[in-house]
Amino acid sequence: MIQPQTTILPKCLFTLGQPLDLSQDRFGFFYETKIDEEIGVLRQRMKDDGYLYLRNFWSREAVQVVRDSLTSQLDRLGFLRPGAPRDEARFDGREVGRAMGNPLDQRDPVLRDLVFGPQITDFFQTFLAGPVRHFDFIWFRTKGPGYGSPLHCDLVYMGRGTHDLYTTWVPLGDVSLELGGLIVLEGSHKKGDRLKPYLSRDVDDYCTNRDDAADYAAGKRWWDGTLSKNAVALQKSLGGRWLTAPEFRMGDAVIFNMTLVHGSLDNQTDRFRLSTDTRYQLASQPIDERWVGDQPPGHAVTQRRGRVC
Ligand SMILES: [Fe+2]
Repeated sequence: MIQPQTTILPKCLFTLGQPLDLSQDRFGFFYETKIDEEIGVLRQRMKDDGYLYLRNFWSREAVQVVRDSLTSQLDRLGFLRPGAPRDEARFDGREVGRAMGNPLDQRDPVLRDLVFGPQITDFFQTFLAGPVRHFDFIWFRTKGPGYGSPLHCDLVYMGRGTHDLYTTWVPLGDVSLELGGLIVLEGSHKKGDRLKPYLSRDVDDYCTNRDDAADYAAGKRWWDGTLSKNAVALQKSLGGRWLTAPEFRMGDAVIFNMTLVHGSLDNQTDRFRLSTDTRYQLASQPIDERWVGDQPPGHAVTQRRGRVC
């Protein structure tokens, strides 16, 4: 079911510098799901859409506390424009770094209270019908002006455990279309046949029978998991509309599965866009060890695995 849209769109929205086709059959907005829906309805929607867009999942106040903590850190680290109100998170010319090298504090207690707290844990316990656990690693997104994230599916980064694993994307601030935010390709989670060559890969695996195998094993080369840098060409190939929200609000959450193609809009403002990604699964299922522990190894070279391709 398509919800009615009344939002006036900006002239142009970009992904990796590429203008998106904003016509109604190429671009639209997420279906908004109510958190108090029957659990069967939520599960069916996840099956049908590959995502749940939950408005007001947390209170604004609870998320503001986390935003305050992160903007304080950014300020202390010298990333924010001096003199501008801290909460505006004005860009001062220096990028903060991608998820793996991001200097924000993984152990920040107010952040962990939110993204690993009872509200989200209870949700997943009901949704997955059993005790759940989360990955310990938190993916920070602190995107300054310019390009958003390349288009990808999460499976290629975290598929060594169960694939019944879910990402929660949390905007830590209101996110307008110009500030950017998550975009997903409608119906792409059902394109497993088309995406099989991509989805069967793992970013830390390499082919032992290739000439450059030693470079991969030594960490001199790495595949970054990008499916495409061209949103328009990918849409032509897979079909579906690019979906986002007219404005993400503090307190919203988007939960999505491992095979949904997604990325983000480019940031057309002079402010940082702050968000986190965190992951949840049944505790009884195998887990991808790259993301577990006090200091998860992530994509460290020790995690490289060779196989015959
Ligand atoms: Fe992702």
